[in-house]
Amino acid sequence: MNSDRITDKIIKDAICFVKELFAGEFSGHDHYHTMRVYQTAGKLAQTEQADIRVVQLAALLHDVDDRKLSPETCRNKDRAVAFMREQQMPEETIAVIVRIIDEVSFAGSDSRIPSTIEGKCVQDADRLDAIGAIGIARAFAFGGSHQRPMYEPGIPPRYHMNAEEYQNHVASSVNHFYEKLFLIKDMLNTEAARELAERRDLFMRNFLNEFLREWNGED
Ligand code: ADP
Ligand code: NI
Repeated sequence: MNSDRITDKIIKDAICFVKELFAGEFSGHDHYHTMRVYQTAGKLAQTEQADIRVVQLAALLHDVDDRKLSPETCRNKDRAVAFMREQQMPEETIAVIVRIIDEVSFAGSDSRIPSTIEGKCVQDADRLDAIGAIGIARAFAFGGSHQRPMYEPGIPPRYHMNAEEYQNHVASSVNHFYEKLFLIKDMLNTEAARELAERRDLFMRNFLNEFLREWNGED
């Protein structure tokens, strides 16, 4: 069992590792994001009877080699691997975690359905944190930190982007709702995540309606 190889100490050390790594990160990827994904993924893992330790460790390490934060280590997940090797984890378990991290990220129409239930739990938890009240806050924090406009009424959203188009696309934060956030509810893997997404999705849609009413002077 992979979970036997992932001890309490490894989980605790991983929490300290991400706290340090994400200190000073203000683009929507602070360590509180990682901790929410860790908590939510753990709950989904219980409902789905997935290997909880695998889910927890993959959730904690899922953004340490993120393309935007660490482009040079993204391909081989070097930081995550180095952390796990330091913890003397067997290569076989390391490979399981790396695969989950690799399958998690959102890439427009090229997004992948993870091959394991553990990966599905982590992906759902990561996506849930991009929607709802927190998702709204993260979208505007991301836009601000990348010098992007909140809203640019003359530029319509783009639909059906593949991975490359999505990664190279520069969007206003409002367009990001149409290009990613409103799509998430229908891209989740687990029933429990779909239930949580309902309320968050509705809240976001109400928010955007209000935003546009105020913007257009209709209120
Ligand atoms: P994660 O890997 O945690 O899923 P991303 O790296 O895709 O997240 O993005 C981090 C946060 O920034 C998410 O909440 C996401 O919705 C938001 N974000 C990503 N791209 C944009 C964008 N173009 N405009 C506004 N927000 C964005
Ligand atoms: Ni994330």
